[in-house]
Amino acid sequence: MLKRIHVEQLRLGMYVNELCGSWMDHPFWRSAFLLDDPKDLQTLLSTGIKEVWIDTAKGLDVEGGETEAVISVVVEDTLAQADKFSNKEQRVNIVHEAARAVLICSKSKQAVTSMFQEARMGKALDAKDALPIVEEISTSVLRNPGALIGLARLKDKDDYTYMHSVAVCALMVSLARQLGLQDEQVRQAGLAGLLHDVGKMMIPLEILNKPGKLTDAEFELVKSHPAEGYKILQGGNGLSEIALDVCLHHHEKIEGNGYPDQLTDKEISLYAKMGAVCDVYDAITSNRPYKNGWEPAESIRKMAEWKGHFDVVIFQAFVKSIGIYPIGSLVKLESNRLGVIIEQTEKSLLTPVVKVFFSIKSNGRIVPEMLDLSKPACRDKIVSHEDPEKWGIRDLHELWSGLPSTNW
Ligand code: C2E
Ligand code: SIN
Ligand code: FE
Repeated sequence: MLKRIHVEQLRLGMYVNELCGSWMDHPFWRSAFLLDDPKDLQTLLSTGIKEVWIDTAKGLDVEGGETEAVISVVVEDTLAQADKFSNKEQRVNIVHEAARAVLICSKSKQAVTSMFQEARMGKALDAKDALPIVEEISTSVLRNPGALIGLARLKDKDDYTYMHSVAVCALMVSLARQLGLQDEQVRQAGLAGLLHDVGKMMIPLEILNKPGKLTDAEFELVKSHPAEGYKILQGGNGLSEIALDVCLHHHEKIEGNGYPDQLTDKEISLYAKMGAVCDVYDAITSNRPYKNGWEPAESIRKMAEWKGHFDVVIFQAFVKSIGIYPIGSLVKLESNRLGVIIEQTEKSLLTPVVKVFFSIKSNGRIVPEMLDLSKPACRDKIVSHEDPEKWGIRDLHELWSGLPSTNW
């Protein structure tokens, strides 16, 4: 079981699963390790990190601490308080939408690829070329946001930027709707998502596709992409302030330590704040040239812990729109079975519809069964989210989308 504890509670023999807080600033690069060296313990205590996750299945346990389930409940409570948004729309079946979304994804990716490549050659970007893409992505998102968002997570390392643009467009549309914005604003938010990273076209490919960590000099260069993108969009036709603003400011953080302008909370616009959340979520859930993606539920949990980066209310609305356990997440149930999240339910983010397909007891597949955890008659519940790799599950996408993996 994963438990979050204070660093002072750490003892030799515990298995450190993750350090909370900054991933850049501490010397422990290995994300998970058995704490068996007193020197490591000393170093950990001196880093300024306040909390860590330990895995009590792999090392010593301790009294107290908060488990994942407790933390989900806390997130859930906060969200319930911020419950000004409702999700009353009729959604089409996920498998039905996935079949359409796979086509929309590949078409949109192609269109973005040629648009961005033309922009690199100096051709002016035109809203007239981009809006039909936004329109198609929006219609899929409105029918069922989980389908396209889930599929767009599957990226080739080489064309990451293009698919990332499609994904951020979809996430922006979904978030804008959740926030109750008007249709025209929803469209502008989507367009801004589609174009936010166009400045990456001006960064050398060897840097973007570098398999490892960037040097300081390389990262400085990458940090010019918002301003480069802004220049490209300024030279375009029919693009709104919203798209320009999101492009320039999607890497600002509310505490003022982002770039390029170190804006603080009040200085960052609603749309740029939305862009920051959608951008990071899609980045960390995707395989990139330099890093493999995390699972959706794991990513939500991590983002909730990154204080000072995101606007809290916007992040909450975002979680509300995609769920604490987004579609495609692998979860373990109290009944000792594994399932994949298929749909969010109206009732609570903790009670989605799950397709159960694996018995832990018999360590094997079972005939898939749909469970609506929000139904009073359903006694089962989620105890944790799980890493599919750990269980050797490679067909998770097939399980929720119904599409054979050869389709993408
Ligand atoms: P990206 O890969 O699309 O990531 C977008 C943003 O998501 C990052 O902006 C960061 O805020 C967040 N993010 C991504 N991965 C992580 C992570 O593992 N932990 C945390 N806490 N946040 C993460 P950032 O850092 O300003 O980077 C901007 C762009 O610079 C990245 O876009 C990527 O293209 C490039 N980049 C950053 N670090 C590396 C690296 O180590 N190697 C390579 N090849 N590129 C990198
Ligand atoms: C962090 O891990 O440093 C916070 C996340 C971020 O700001 O990128
Ligand atoms: Fe960016």
